[in-house]
Amino acid sequence: MDHGQVQLTHPGIEEASQRRTMAQDDHSGTEIAAADSSHAAPAASPGTALIAQDAFENPGFPPHRPRVTDEDPKREKRAQRTVYTLFYLSIVGSVWAIAAYMLFPMESNNVGDVRLNNLFIGLGATLALLGIGFGAVHWAKSLMYDVELVDERHPIGGSPETQAAAVKVFQDADRESGFSRRAVIRNSLIGALLVFPLPAVVLFRGLAPQDQNPIELLSHTMWKKGTRLALDPSGAPIKASDVTMGSAFHVIPEGLQDLEHGKLDEKAKAAVLLMRLDPKDLNELPERKDWSYDGIVAYSKICTHVGCPVALYEQHTHHLLCPCHQSQFDVSNHCEVIFGPAKRPLPQLPIAVDDEGYLIAQSDFTEPVGPSFWERH
Ligand code: FES
Repeated sequence: MDHGQVQLTHPGIEEASQRRTMAQDDHSGTEIAAADSSHAAPAASPGTALIAQDAFENPGFPPHRPRVTDEDPKREKRAQRTVYTLFYLSIVGSVWAIAAYMLFPMESNNVGDVRLNNLFIGLGATLALLGIGFGAVHWAKSLMYDVELVDERHPIGGSPETQAAAVKVFQDADRESGFSRRAVIRNSLIGALLVFPLPAVVLFRGLAPQDQNPIELLSHTMWKKGTRLALDPSGAPIKASDVTMGSAFHVIPEGLQDLEHGKLDEKAKAAVLLMRLDPKDLNELPERKDWSYDGIVAYSKICTHVGCPVALYEQHTHHLLCPCHQSQFDVSNHCEVIFGPAKRPLPQLPIAVDDEGYLIAQSDFTEPVGPSFWERH
């Protein structure tokens, strides 16, 4: 294609071309249409407009009509006030969402409270989002430059000159939108965007216990010295003689079922798998020699990858499998990871037997259970 000549085919463009200058792009050989503005404000950007010799015929666009804000400074001021008022309303909405979270708590679990809480937080978040959205659209439609440009396809990957032109586009866009110049609007938008995420922060913090350290809570379980190991879900205590060779039990601490509050939270931390191996198959760490009883071992059921229950036991290989992402743990080798994304062995629960022959814990776990993230604390 011969790019040596320029052909303008759109009347709107032709009209606009009267106030444009043409700049040559050495890389593509096409010409870039650059616009001057007849408006008192700085020149409009050409964007990446390329005008080719074989451009389409004019499909019949109506002539360009200037907006009232282009012609009447009072209307322009009014539009500016509208825009920053919308951004300020967004800030009010975000602050209200936080206030509503405090003013309409759901602690009583009363359905009416829940409805009020959701209603007023939702109204605040809606106002926050609509304020930003309407403000941005109104800003673009009434105050940013209203210039028709043609942007034809062109080769991907530009020359240094093209890249410099791209930088200029951004600079022109900044100048045309008034982002730097209209400090009140810009700052109110930045304020609205900064405040908008705050309700989410407050709401998510509300999911954690208010009066206790969540890390401390995750570091301890219901297990303590003398707690009997009980069957899940019946809660019946387990005698060592009940655990036959090759068997595996899902275990909870005795007394868990009697808790009135937080039963599931405690179970999520304290769940244990109990297995019996031939003692000669057990390769126990020296410091854990007395943590098992006659080949019976107990390990946390909570996967150290991201916390799924490790539910599958293969008695011939003594492998535990987490079905979530296929991490495998070798029970005969202190539950070390032999496959998958988990990064550390399942924590072991030290066990013994009481005077009546029931399996009991010697203590709580000696390390945090669950995903490895908590190990860092
Ligand atoms: S949670 Fe167990 S492998 Fe991912």
